[in-house]
Amino acid sequence: MLKQPAGIMLLSEGRRGRTRTGPPPPSYDDNTVNQALSFFLLALPLAVASHWMLCGCSTRRSEAAGDGGRRAERDAIVASSIEGRGIRDPRVLAAMRAVERHRFVPEGVRSQAYEDRALPIGFRQTISQPYVVAFMTEALELEPHERVLEVGTGSGYQAAVLAELVAEVYSIEIVAELAERAGRTLAELGYDNVEVRAGDGYRGWPEHAPFDAIIVTAAPDHVPPALVEQLAMGGRMIVPVGDRNQELVLLERTTTGLDERRVLPVRFVPMTGEAEKR
Ligand SMILES: C[S@@+](CC[C@H](N)C(=O)[O-])C[C@H]1O[C@@H](n2cnc3c(N)ncnc32)[C@H](O)[C@@H]1O
Repeated sequence: MLKQPAGIMLLSEGRRGRTRTGPPPPSYDDNTVNQALSFFLLALPLAVASHWMLCGCSTRRSEAAGDGGRRAERDAIVASSIEGRGIRDPRVLAAMRAVERHRFVPEGVRSQAYEDRALPIGFRQTISQPYVVAFMTEALELEPHERVLEVGTGSGYQAAVLAELVAEVYSIEIVAELAERAGRTLAELGYDNVEVRAGDGYRGWPEHAPFDAIIVTAAPDHVPPALVEQLAMGGRMIVPVGDRNQELVLLERTTTGLDERRVLPVRFVPMTGEAEKR
């Protein structure tokens, strides 16, 4: 039995006071200001409410964008390389159609965002191939109320796919610049159910454990024991294991122990940090 999550940590810019050098501003008496403020406070909620009633809009930009969101390209790749290669879960297919992969890649490779292959994202790291993202996500059998841990945020794309499917997503990235950039991208796109942290994910995120599912997107040569410990009863984990020849291992914590299956040969970047010393 498997379930699903979403979330982001935002760094808000502080407002800075500026020294005024021009002529003094026009002054308003208190009553005028109060009347204007009352009108604003009344009008704003009405305007927001009527906008939502008329549009049924989400704050999430991936759902709001029109053709500029490159929806036709996503529909095509989902049909040919994802549904076409055996991914069947309708929720996963919908998430793959919804998340704007081109927003998660650097400008220089944006034209290739809807090709079914990994792309460079800087710092010698990659955004995973869409088929592999869909395969791993489907294997976790996520449900809407679930909480998920991702180790290896990278661009934030996989986290966004997860965020479409579950209540809370926690994602750890060892390259601080990537963590910062991914958190910003996810926030800009409205994924407020993803929390991104910079750090070594080998020992998971104990403060938020247990997790209904864990997805690891960098390859250690063994399954990190702390991640197994942070799986809830009935929880699932998918992790690429190996050096040159890697396989995706799917684990499930059951009342009798841990079920383990090898499900797909893959090639991920190695897990760095503590995993390399073990
Ligand atoms: C294949 S990329 C991940 C792709 C990512 N899921 C995406 O959607 O763009 C693997 C990522 O794992 C990160 N990584 C490697 N070892 C790690 C560790 N010990 N803890 C956290 N992140 C790690 C790498 O820096 C890299 O960004």
